[in-house]
Amino acid sequence: MREQDFIPGEFQKSVQFGKVTWQSPSNIALVKYWGKKKKQIPANPSVSFTLKNCKTITTLEFKRKEIKGEDFDFELFFEGKKKDDFKPKITKFFERIEKYTPFLKDYELVIQTENTFPHSSGIASSASGMSALALCVMSLEKELNPEITEDYFLKKASFLARLGSGSACRSIEGELIEWGEHKTTAGSSDLFGIKYPNKVLEVFKSYQDTILLVDKGQKQVSSTLGHNLMHGHSFAEARFEQAHANLEKLQAVFETGNLPEFIKIVESEALTLHAMMMSSEPYFILMKPNTLEIINRIWGFRESTGVPVCFTLDAGANVHVLYPKRHKEEVLEFIKNELVAYCEKGQYICDSIGKGAEKL
Ligand code: DP6
Repeated sequence: MREQDFIPGEFQKSVQFGKVTWQSPSNIALVKYWGKKKKQIPANPSVSFTLKNCKTITTLEFKRKEIKGEDFDFELFFEGKKKDDFKPKITKFFERIEKYTPFLKDYELVIQTENTFPHSSGIASSASGMSALALCVMSLEKELNPEITEDYFLKKASFLARLGSGSACRSIEGELIEWGEHKTTAGSSDLFGIKYPNKVLEVFKSYQDTILLVDKGQKQVSSTLGHNLMHGHSFAEARFEQAHANLEKLQAVFETGNLPEFIKIVESEALTLHAMMMSSEPYFILMKPNTLEIINRIWGFRESTGVPVCFTLDAGANVHVLYPKRHKEEVLEFIKNELVAYCEKGQYICDSIGKGAEKL
């Protein structure tokens, strides 16, 4: 599908008012998206596990205006309270998607949103938040045009979510989502995420992700800024090639279940992501001393027990501990005994692979 395919034609119905609620999960990338071109086109393909428990729940109420306005007309509530400081981000999102959703200016909108994970946990809510909102917007489009297919609905939701936040396009479905053109993945696209189409062993469909909250503070450097620093970065081209190669290697791993190889790729991706940050101009570091302490302890535990547990990081100090479900008890025991001490206020979140967003 091409970009033009997401521009709607005439709408069949006129809708006066309504309300829709979606819950949409966060996701954790195994091969990382870091670097983008214009219009939220990724510099390299990425693949992620969709999560189950870390979610955003968003309700969109819409009421048709008498006269179409010049501006987007919306109110925003976060956890029941009016949140005007989130409005510029949403306005920017609406501006980016206007071409594809011209009906938005016909309505007065009320957006109510909340997260299932603790407020300011340092967990990025842009993936779950933008995907939930994109799905609500698509539900309105479906009311206006009931004939759109399920496939178009999901692809366009992912397409719109991408324009809000790149990684959000990987939060619509589960369990493994790939985004970005990649030569050995049929149907892969820079415009939206797709369900990973090749063979995946069961072990990967029930993977566990325990998120250790190392630093719950505001990030010093936003992802958007970080992505931009890949322009003119000395290692950029090599990094983008590496992502393509790692994705190909992971393809084999999903088929064979080679966990040592899985660990090697996933941890290397996490460290490379942070190495890109540390070698950009200006350079910056998002890991904290406790992030490194945790990584070392995971390595020690893996070495001494042979349990195939590994880590990944996103653009922050928190550590995602990844492991197969069959090792849940011993890994949780290890986390409680050895890793919790390095978490801010001892906090961590138990999550696992999920199947994607749901309409409530
Ligand atoms: C490190 O999707 O948050 O989590 O497109 O600017 O909103 P924007 O960036 P964002 O970047 C996420 C980067 C990452 C890696 C990943 O999820 O692939």
